[in-house]
Amino acid sequence: MCGIMAYVGEQSAFPILMEGLKKLEYRGYDSAGVAVMSDELRLLKKSGKVNNLEKYAPDDITIGTLGIGHTRWATHGAASDLNAHPHQSMSGRYTLVHNGIIENAAPLKEMMLKHGIVFKSETDTEVLVQLIEWYQMRFQLETQMAVQRALEYIEGSFAIVLFDLHTPDQLFVIRRGSPLVIGIGDDEYIISSDPMPIAPHTDQLIYLEEDILGVFKKGTAPSFVDAQEEMVEQTIEYLSHTYEDVMKEGYDSYMLKEINEQPARIAHMLDRHMGGRANDELLDRLPTIISDIDRIIILGCGSSRHSGLVAEYLMETYARISVEVEYASEFRYKNAMIGPKDLIIGISQSGETADTIAALKIASSSGATTIGIVNGVNSTIARMVDHVLYLHMGQEIGVASTKAFSAQLTALTLISMRIAEIRKTICQEDTDRMLLDLKNVSEHVKTALECADIIESISLDLLESRSIIFLGRGMLYPIALEGALKLKELSYIHAEGFAAGEMKHGPIALLEERMPVIALVNDDCSLEKLMSNVQEMKARKAMIIVIKSSNVTLSAGVADYIVDMPDCPAFLSPIIQSIPLQLLSYYVAKHKGCDVDQPRHLAKSVTVE
Ligand code: F6R
Repeated sequence: MCGIMAYVGEQSAFPILMEGLKKLEYRGYDSAGVAVMSDELRLLKKSGKVNNLEKYAPDDITIGTLGIGHTRWATHGAASDLNAHPHQSMSGRYTLVHNGIIENAAPLKEMMLKHGIVFKSETDTEVLVQLIEWYQMRFQLETQMAVQRALEYIEGSFAIVLFDLHTPDQLFVIRRGSPLVIGIGDDEYIISSDPMPIAPHTDQLIYLEEDILGVFKKGTAPSFVDAQEEMVEQTIEYLSHTYEDVMKEGYDSYMLKEINEQPARIAHMLDRHMGGRANDELLDRLPTIISDIDRIIILGCGSSRHSGLVAEYLMETYARISVEVEYASEFRYKNAMIGPKDLIIGISQSGETADTIAALKIASSSGATTIGIVNGVNSTIARMVDHVLYLHMGQEIGVASTKAFSAQLTALTLISMRIAEIRKTICQEDTDRMLLDLKNVSEHVKTALECADIIESISLDLLESRSIIFLGRGMLYPIALEGALKLKELSYIHAEGFAAGEMKHGPIALLEERMPVIALVNDDCSLEKLMSNVQEMKARKAMIIVIKSSNVTLSAGVADYIVDMPDCPAFLSPIIQSIPLQLLSYYVAKHKGCDVDQPRHLAKSVTVE
């Protein structure tokens, strides 16, 4: 979380910082700030979004050609003007923006308070900038050395850009655990948390290695030193990916646009991976990758983990291989027993989720083979795994995962079928038929979107609900979890997903008259069981909403609302049934007046633990 943008060069820094920060707002949007150097350093920071900050900018802020900027997702201290970045050291010599979290900020602050350092904010970032100055003053160090010494005492993750008033034409950057990319232009450097804001300026990039301190000065080649003060080289790479300027294209939100672009994007992705046009080659290499594998472990967070749970059903059913799905945040601390015979699949839309990155690092160091399924091109996960499969869905701006989620499901279905084919666990005729069905899934997604009107009318009946229950069985159980997650994150209504058979083991006690229960139904072998569970809810006067494949016939009066989905093979129903649930959370949130693209307290890229 938090986005960093910095510039040093010939051009006016402020508009470049603003343009970049707007593109980074998906990383956090509770406050924003810039510091621009001209005849003096101008510091501007405000709670609220980047647009709000722009309103307070003095005209002459555009004079400076060096500046640093930040958009914040609060970790320490409320979203206030004072806690917004950049932060300064006590003397004002150092100004800093930071992405990450300083876990030992409290004892460091206590130590400095005892030495008379005065703090203005509640942030961990101010602790960092004060610590750098403390080292500089106490040991009379050069800034570079002071930064390195201070960072030796830091626990946590950081990417920082530091400005030193004594060298007003240069910027210092360093990172550990949080991403930072440097664009090399003509006589200019653009530094950012991700390549997207750099793309309009240059196609030459450096993905800064951890603990390497870079110094950037206009008209001079950058220098890089490691913690031992040794000069090191950093590789310049060329941006292979074009970043479209993403617009809402007439939709009222990015989320609605992203929901509606799923048929075309999924078709495009499948065409690349099934038509042999993708150059990531994961599918070609699968026979070798799985040749000596006993078990697959899938890691992810939030929606990405839910798609992994669907894959568990698919892989175990069709490829007959043992699969475990773990929260990346738990896996990293559980002392997992893994080894070279495990295949670890990390799923992440952004490719920047801190917990998933850390879990994959542990997997790699244990000798396991790692695969990343990511949408974020050149993201940290894409770069660290042994093999990557890109989702090719275009950037997702809405904070809630929609098109990335359906793409994860589609990609995992494809991988599951391929593994089944390689392991010969289903006959070739069946595999061919299933792959053909998968190839046509985008048509079913398109038809599923036609339920928007009925879903909107159902949403109006849910606005006053205090709690909503989602039920599924088999591979629709993870979709029930996903439906509940989506609804709560967007509409702030409490929602829970349950495996339908679990209701009577406790959760049924929650039921109150007219409490909405949303049941996901396909025509697999658990249909009868699930409908019995629904009857149990109905008997307790719940409001029953059934989302079902159109070939399933229900007895009269079982549900208050029935939403028909296209008739498709059961193994595709997770993809199809996620569509009405996305629409439901969108409409409930919209009619409650919530910000569907940027829900409260959230960020698109979760780069802290
Ligand atoms: C929910 C949502 C989150 C993410 C989770 C993991 O709509 O978007 O639950 O799925 O934060 O993020 P990625 O996939 O970027 O690792």
